[in-house]
Amino acid sequence: MTELSDLVLQAENIRKNLGGNEILHGLSLNVERGELVSIIGPSGCGKSTFLRCLNFLEHPDSGKVRVEDVSLEGTVHWHARQEAQAHKLRAHVGMVFQDFNLFPHRTVLENVMMAPMHVKNMPREQAQEIATEFLNKVGLGKVMDRHPDRLSGGQKQRAAIARALAMKPSVMLYDEPTSALDPELSEEVLEVMRALDREGMTQIVVTHDMRFARAASDRVLYLEGGEIVESGSPEKIFASPEDPRTRRFLRTLLA
Ligand SMILES: Nc1ncnc2c1ncn2[C@@H]1O[C@H](COP(=O)(O)OP(=O)(O)OP(=O)(O)O)[C@@H](O)[C@H]1O
Ligand SMILES: [Mg+2]
Repeated sequence: MTELSDLVLQAENIRKNLGGNEILHGLSLNVERGELVSIIGPSGCGKSTFLRCLNFLEHPDSGKVRVEDVSLEGTVHWHARQEAQAHKLRAHVGMVFQDFNLFPHRTVLENVMMAPMHVKNMPREQAQEIATEFLNKVGLGKVMDRHPDRLSGGQKQRAAIARALAMKPSVMLYDEPTSALDPELSEEVLEVMRALDREGMTQIVVTHDMRFARAASDRVLYLEGGEIVESGSPEKIFASPEDPRTRRFLRTLLA
């Protein structure tokens, strides 16, 4: 049996209504430390909503999320108490978006230093040391004094990853981190994610990049219509999917 401490993140029966429709119909997911889980599925199936529910950027209507030692139940009656707990939970979670979300008027280095200084009250010198370490790690040591508009898309996304890493999260969430990028720029971002995987980082990636999902994931989740239709090893999902919906989705992609 897996020890509880090996599960970095547990989500149980997550439900979410948006605009009067139930978008997520009770999704559950356990993620082990060091796993790379890819979430795939057709546009509009709820991938982003589910990912955002995992760190309460979107509040689930019901269900429960635990990350490390912080648990929180979803509720339609969201109050300051829940927000305080969500804040604690988010301290363990790094998030990377499709469009980078860097502050344009700050240098790359300042972008990465900001959260450690303002959220963790870290002294400037220490924040700078950590930011420099992570920017070097993602290959941006030479450009960290530039502003984001002087970086390529791939560099911006690597800066966004460094910014998330500087908070020392237990799990990283990515929502289509490469879909705004040309193939060669995607590759440099995916390589950073593979390197993090080799170092044991836990990562959950919503992606349309089936080659990456197949080659880099420990596990793939196929979502459709707000449900997890099927989950398993990349070999199982891509080579011998059991559910007809998964087969149809993959056939459509190949066509
Ligand atoms: N604020 C909202 N109000 C009403 N419906 C919404 C809202 N936000 C999202 N939805 C709906 O929820 C569903 C799931 O959206 P979501 O963005 O999670 O899908 P997705 O799988 O990430 O899609 P994509 O691959 O295009 O990014 C969609 O049908 C969408 O139209
Ligand atoms: Mg999405």
